[in-house]
Amino acid sequence: MTAPETEKTSVPEAEALRERALASLTTARARTTLLTSCVEDPDLTAQHSPLMSPLVWDLAHIGNQEEQWLLRAVGGREAMRPEIDGLYDAFEHPRAERPSLPLLPPAEARGYAAEVRGRVVDLLTAADFHGSRLTEAGFAFGMIAQHEQQHDETMLITHQLRRGPRALTAPDPEPVPLFPGPAEVLVPGGPFTMGTSSEPWALDNERPAHPVQVAPFWIDTTPVTNAAYQAFIEDGGYDTERWWTPEGWAHVRQHSLTAPLFWRRDGGQWLRRRFGATEAVPADEPVLHVCWYEADAYARWAGRRLPTEAEWEKAARHDPVTGRSTRYPWGDADPEPEHANLGQRHLRPAPAGSYPAGASPLGVRQLIGDVWEWTASDFQPYPGFRAFPYKEYSEVFFGSAYKVLRGGSFAVDPVACRGTFRNWDHPIRRQIFSGFRTARSEAI
Ligand code: AVJ
Ligand code: FE
Repeated sequence: MTAPETEKTSVPEAEALRERALASLTTARARTTLLTSCVEDPDLTAQHSPLMSPLVWDLAHIGNQEEQWLLRAVGGREAMRPEIDGLYDAFEHPRAERPSLPLLPPAEARGYAAEVRGRVVDLLTAADFHGSRLTEAGFAFGMIAQHEQQHDETMLITHQLRRGPRALTAPDPEPVPLFPGPAEVLVPGGPFTMGTSSEPWALDNERPAHPVQVAPFWIDTTPVTNAAYQAFIEDGGYDTERWWTPEGWAHVRQHSLTAPLFWRRDGGQWLRRRFGATEAVPADEPVLHVCWYEADAYARWAGRRLPTEAEWEKAARHDPVTGRSTRYPWGDADPEPEHANLGQRHLRPAPAGSYPAGASPLGVRQLIGDVWEWTASDFQPYPGFRAFPYKEYSEVFFGSAYKVLRGGSFAVDPVACRGTFRNWDHPIRRQIFSGFRTARSEAI
């Protein structure tokens, strides 16, 4: 592909991009290594849930995508092991099938990913970041760092589903005083800019920036907590058809759902299993492991609704003083630990009301990090969308089968998290690190 001649990247600029790309790839690999070395080999090749790949598949798939996009597409190199491409093509083999494939065993998968990385580091040393859309601003390197981090979150989900003793540990978030409110914030009506055309490592579905009209609405200041969700359960929420959509009601009945995934009632209290340990459900923590149907039913019970994707992004990015859309709720600065619970620093969401430094100008908290937030919206392309660099990242998923989740969880790395970042899943999924907040229209 030839692109219009662009200005040659200046030497210090290229150096900064190289450093950022290398740091992002290195951070991702450290996490991949942690997630694939904290258990013995049989746990890497086993399938812990039909919803998930064996961990050793994710590991070699990470290496294979890196080889395809950085060594072959950017570097023009020959395939290192063309015979394995098919095994690690997510579209050729659904997850449930992957354990029966002749996958590379753990040591070989590690060796392959490490060899690809060694060659990528050499390529990066000579990269000049201009001339094609793939290399512009280091996009392909950023895309691959994000891809590895996304699979790291997937592998963390596999660890959560895995039976057996705890393999991972992390410090708990700082306790905070019970959040005093206000419980909701009014977001003014009017246009705002949704999506981005300028964020260099934004993925295709976040583009382009476009104006959207949003009517005034109220949105919860924090994600819905376990205590609030328990009130829905205790009020018979799972047994009351009128709170549910017809599909949601059929689903909860068929699968006898009575509480979030991993919860179990023990006498008078709720317990949950979290990364191999059982503990009391903490009242003030955002609810986790609910599907879209549960989030939607809770909202209706509460006399509210889920925010649309546009409402969520306006709450997260609109600066009412300047009228501009910022990269994050707190402004344009990259996330720091005081802003948000990201990057698997903790193995759980932080209590509602945490991270005041990460609040939006209107005071909405924890939009970024902690839990993925279900929105009311189907996953659809923005006006002017163009698949790049491959249709299988976003385009093949557009439509009404998937609902959009926003904001990222504690398991999302900052490189794969922005005010514009879009995630999606089927409305029945709840092994993911999903929660929600509610909204209501401003009465006119
Ligand atoms: C964006 C999280 C839905 O895991 O299916 C990984 C990310 N795409 N490899 C997924 C992805 C290709 C994707 N999600
Ligand atoms: Fe992938």
